[in-house]
Amino acid sequence: MSGNRVSRRSFLTGLGLTGLGAAAGAGGLTLAGCSTDDGDGGDTVPFRGGHQAGVTTPQQEHLHIVAFDVITGDRDALRTMLTDWTGMAERMTRGEETTDGGALSGTDVDGHGAGDTYKVPTDTGEALDLSAGSLTVTVGFGPSLFDDRFGLRDRRPAELTPLPKFPGDQLIEDLCDGDIVIQACADDPQVAVHAVRNLTRAGSGVVEVRWSQLGYGAASKTTRNEDTPRNLFGFKDGTRNITADETGDIESNVWVGDDPDSAGPGGWMTGGVYMCTRRIRMLLEVWDRQVLDDQQHTFARYKGSGAPIGAEKEDDDVPFDLYLGTGGPAIPHDSHVYLAHPDQNNGRRMLRRAYNFIEGSDSFGHLSAGLFFIAYVTKPSENFTPIQLKLAHDDKMNEYVRYESKAVFACPPGLGDGDDWGTALFG
Ligand code: HEM
Repeated sequence: MSGNRVSRRSFLTGLGLTGLGAAAGAGGLTLAGCSTDDGDGGDTVPFRGGHQAGVTTPQQEHLHIVAFDVITGDRDALRTMLTDWTGMAERMTRGEETTDGGALSGTDVDGHGAGDTYKVPTDTGEALDLSAGSLTVTVGFGPSLFDDRFGLRDRRPAELTPLPKFPGDQLIEDLCDGDIVIQACADDPQVAVHAVRNLTRAGSGVVEVRWSQLGYGAASKTTRNEDTPRNLFGFKDGTRNITADETGDIESNVWVGDDPDSAGPGGWMTGGVYMCTRRIRMLLEVWDRQVLDDQQHTFARYKGSGAPIGAEKEDDDVPFDLYLGTGGPAIPHDSHVYLAHPDQNNGRRMLRRAYNFIEGSDSFGHLSAGLFFIAYVTKPSENFTPIQLKLAHDDKMNEYVRYESKAVFACPPGLGDGDDWGTALFG
């Protein structure tokens, strides 16, 4: 993160617009241009556009993702909540409170002023002094939303079916699936948590949290300029991810086009994308006992440089035809990269947006750690499920991981002026 950014509160104070005066005076102002004040445009990510932000956006450092069950049968209540959420999310991505002056119920920053201190604040306040933090808020809808509760059965795209249980999965049911997902990514963890916390609060009575996950330290990259980060196994992760500048591959593997199975009835998902998530526990104590050769065999890449085994540089092509002495192929056929590479999967790719997580230690004293894996694809049945199935059967990495969750969501296209998160879904 770069410094010297205008926080939501200091912006108002600087204009002498705190308190109720701010609520009235700043009502028609947008702070979007202002919070990106560091000259590099890096702090505020546009909320509206042809596609949702948070997919090809340069990967921020922190994740808070939450899946909800809808607990009302009232279609109007769901529709209204999606509209309200959109307004709040858009404001937060600009570095604003969810409502003008909401955190302090209209009082000024010192707790004085003309506000109503007997009102429950409409913003929880922990992001008051923070900048927008490159926050993106991405929404998606799970297959279970398309039952008879809200008249959406006929809107379900053929591609939106629950992921199967893959061989070897050790699923924790409470951490799987969900009606609605919100992915908040930001360079400041408190900004991401603030977004999820406030939307959850505003959804009270309509939705209930099913599961949520915090992630830190991007474990993939989505643009060419980012350095490749390392995952908790110590390997560079994201080397061959689809990057935003690979526009051809982004169009054919990520954004939904006119394929009717992905685009859904009336094409409401065109411009959208499917999000596949897996919580993967990494058995680090087991991994840490393996010799380097075995670790490198797992990924068919060198741990230091990230280059494919037998190649020189990280970006070199994977030498599938290379044999090293009598030791078999340089790229072993049970290695993660061999199995997941597009050359072995009809050219199919996925855009990965993974985050590390560590949640202290378990009762054995082992780190409760892993990778929260998010893949964005145009067609789960071709870009995700067959590759995951191969990995489930043959990936050497399975000795060191445990797949604990699965979920898939249809993320609608981006928003034009006047649209909200329910516009495409409800038609
Ligand atoms: C703990 C779990 C995982 C770890 C530690 C991990 C790690 C890695 C590493 C180190 C690479 C090589 C560098 C790169 O190109 O990014 C890689 C590549 C890749 N992984 Fe994973 N991965 C995990 C899970 C998954 C899952 C669940 C999938 C898909 C279902 C997947 C799909 C891919 C793909 C498509 C590539 C690129 C292959 C290529 O084009 O060479 N990974 N992964």
